[in-house]
Amino acid sequence: MTAIDIARARRETPGSGLVLHFNNAGSSLPPTSVVDAQIAYLQREAVFGGYETAAEYADQVERVYTSAAALVNADPDEIAIIENATRAWDMAFYSIAFKPGDRILTAMAEYASNYIPYLQVAKRTGAVIDVVPNDEHGQVSVAALRDMLDERVKLIAITHVPTNGGLVNPAAEIGAVAREAGVLYLLDACQSVGQMPIDVRAIGCDMLSTTGRKYLRGPRGTGFLYVRRDVVPTLEPIMLDLHAAQWTARDSYTIREDARRFENWETNYAAKVGLGVAIDYALNWGLDAIWERVSLLAARLRSRLAEIPGVTLTDLGSTKCGIVTFTVAGHAAGDLRDAFAERRIHVTHTRTPSTRLDMEARGLTEMVRASVHYYNDEEEVEQFCTALEHIIRSTH
Ligand SMILES: Cc1ncc(COP(=O)(O)O)c(C=O)c1O
Repeated sequence: MTAIDIARARRETPGSGLVLHFNNAGSSLPPTSVVDAQIAYLQREAVFGGYETAAEYADQVERVYTSAAALVNADPDEIAIIENATRAWDMAFYSIAFKPGDRILTAMAEYASNYIPYLQVAKRTGAVIDVVPNDEHGQVSVAALRDMLDERVKLIAITHVPTNGGLVNPAAEIGAVAREAGVLYLLDACQSVGQMPIDVRAIGCDMLSTTGRKYLRGPRGTGFLYVRRDVVPTLEPIMLDLHAAQWTARDSYTIREDARRFENWETNYAAKVGLGVAIDYALNWGLDAIWERVSLLAARLRSRLAEIPGVTLTDLGSTKCGIVTFTVAGHAAGDLRDAFAERRIHVTHTRTPSTRLDMEARGLTEMVRASVHYYNDEEEVEQFCTALEHIIRSTH
């Protein structure tokens, strides 16, 4: 594994140096190649036509599937490119036929956009939601999960890297339990893909969703879904169109055999091409190298923040990732975010409604979320902490 050439990574990131971007888990700064690919596509579309440009780029568009598959160790026919992680996840989740009494096992730090669908589906079908408790590290307890299994469990659905904290849930250990029990396993990998190596075979998930704009540094409005080849035919997509299925006779249709049955026909081709470039760019650096760098920078940020009086780190898990969360005594997270923004420092603040179960269990209502990526540097960590010290001093 070669270490990341930070100077090159920064040169290839037009925004680095202009802003201090610790909002990579919100939407990362894209590299030049991703932006250029989209602009070139749009310019071609403008003079040549949308359908004609799509035909011209057909091979490149097809390669996006190969790249996405390579990124997660899947095969291209197991990939659907979808406009965001939420819809990718929805297409998998809502396509599962739940019956009254079926159980959905999920995690404490589950994301609102997943939990709301559980509630809706539970209301509609009589399925039941059961939340797996955390272990002593604050991550999904694999032992508790194993104990909760019975023949009524229809789905295990877990967020790999939750919104609010450094936590990396033990996806592969959960996968081993799911495989042993023969239960469907849906992994929300929205915040892990692009920051760490992801291998769907090693994880043992049946379905995995992710987004383009976060750690992959791709365009907004892009994402993809992986569905294991032998699971694809068992899931009838909740919605169909003439891309997902064929109208074969007046009264019949045939659904595609590959994972593209979860897509729909119209799409943003420029963004799709940009997503492919972003994935190739990440693969070029190497996910092991990216993960090593992200972990190192985040650890540095955590240890530096821990030295600042009034700061409490709120990250959980035995393995922590590039998302660093904290609270500051006497300072609202939203005010801190705004004060950072005035200094061209980008963070977000995360609040109870995003991950209600976890936040309530911890007695938290909000936290500041600073998310680092490999192109950030040690100097930025220092600048960030110095800025926080100033903000704390100047607003007391
Ligand atoms: C854990 C998790 N899942 C899903 C999503 C939704 O991703 P998208 O906005 O691409 O639909 C997010 C976004 O913040 C997230 O944090």
